[in-house]
Amino acid sequence: MAADESWRVPSIVQELAAIVQEPPSRYLIPEQDRRHDQLAGAEMPDPVPTIDLQRLLASDDSADEEATELRSALLSWGFFLVTNHGIATSVMDALMSASRDFFRKPLEEKQVYSNLIEGKQWQLEGYGNDPVTTQDQILDWCDRLHLMVEPEDERNLDRWPGHPESFRGLLHEYTLGCQRVKDGILRAMARLLELDDDDGILGQFGDKGSTHARFSYYPACPRPDLVLGVSPHNDVCVLTLLLADEHVGGLQFQRDGTWYCVPPVHGRALLVNVGVSLEIMSNGIFKGPLHRVVTNSEKERMSLAMFYTTDFEKEIEPIAELLDDKRPARYKKIKFKDLVAAHHEYFSKRERVIESLKI
Ligand code: OGA
Ligand code: NI
Repeated sequence: MAADESWRVPSIVQELAAIVQEPPSRYLIPEQDRRHDQLAGAEMPDPVPTIDLQRLLASDDSADEEATELRSALLSWGFFLVTNHGIATSVMDALMSASRDFFRKPLEEKQVYSNLIEGKQWQLEGYGNDPVTTQDQILDWCDRLHLMVEPEDERNLDRWPGHPESFRGLLHEYTLGCQRVKDGILRAMARLLELDDDDGILGQFGDKGSTHARFSYYPACPRPDLVLGVSPHNDVCVLTLLLADEHVGGLQFQRDGTWYCVPPVHGRALLVNVGVSLEIMSNGIFKGPLHRVVTNSEKERMSLAMFYTTDFEKEIEPIAELLDDKRPARYKKIKFKDLVAAHHEYFSKRERVIESLKI
């Protein structure tokens, strides 16, 4: 990399936050987005839709009632909370606490797990920031630890923090719990789409579907009116399960042009949202919601997202069973790896890849 390409290597935000009074210009959102009342977001008109997973998977009428709730949550917001998910709260608490410990370690210890090869070339896994693809890209106020957790036999354990010692075991256990939750939800969604086979969505993952855990650490930010924790985006995956901070809000979803705040999530409920891949597969019946994270001037925030993605070689396209003369395909097909590459490119321009795929 030439010396003048140093803009490709962003700073660790936690280090920056510790020394600057004012965020550097690269973090400031565009002029037209700076209306503070808009960044603050609106209160959701109703409580966040909540699905009881135990009821959804029951073999009596309660499953139908819960499925009706699920349909309404998907059609109105594209996201919902899941309670009674069967993952032990103690595992979730311990994992969040272990990851907090990791982010609190000195920089040198974290850099062992860096997502930059030889300090410069970006790769998906490891500790660091999103890729910077253009010089004028606006950067987000967060640091990340991104790990592929499934397939289990393809884990790159050299990127998995060895300290605190409990980290790897907890992440493994949490991964197993989330897998059951994801399977249950995708089966219920397949029934809502009236697919012949309950595994109709799960069957779309191909030979090597993968699961990616992304721990995000958002330091307190001196200018929440000018800086975002994560810029507006859609998740590119099929489904996301988010374990959000219990105490600090910041996540917002957009609907009909208005940003709505998700209050801090209590009781270790999981927040689930539809991704772009599922929007395409369902031929637009389920929509992947646009979301962002705002910053907080006083408190740091942490979250853990689990992204469920298809095989990278898989063509993402509307499920054939959902199409007929009256319901033609509304999206072009695209190989998942190309979708990911296009997503990064559109994201850096603050645009949405899904718009480019609409027929
Ligand atoms: C993401 C994301 C939300 C959060 O990582 O894609 O939207 O609350 N995170 O951290
Ligand atoms: Ni997201």
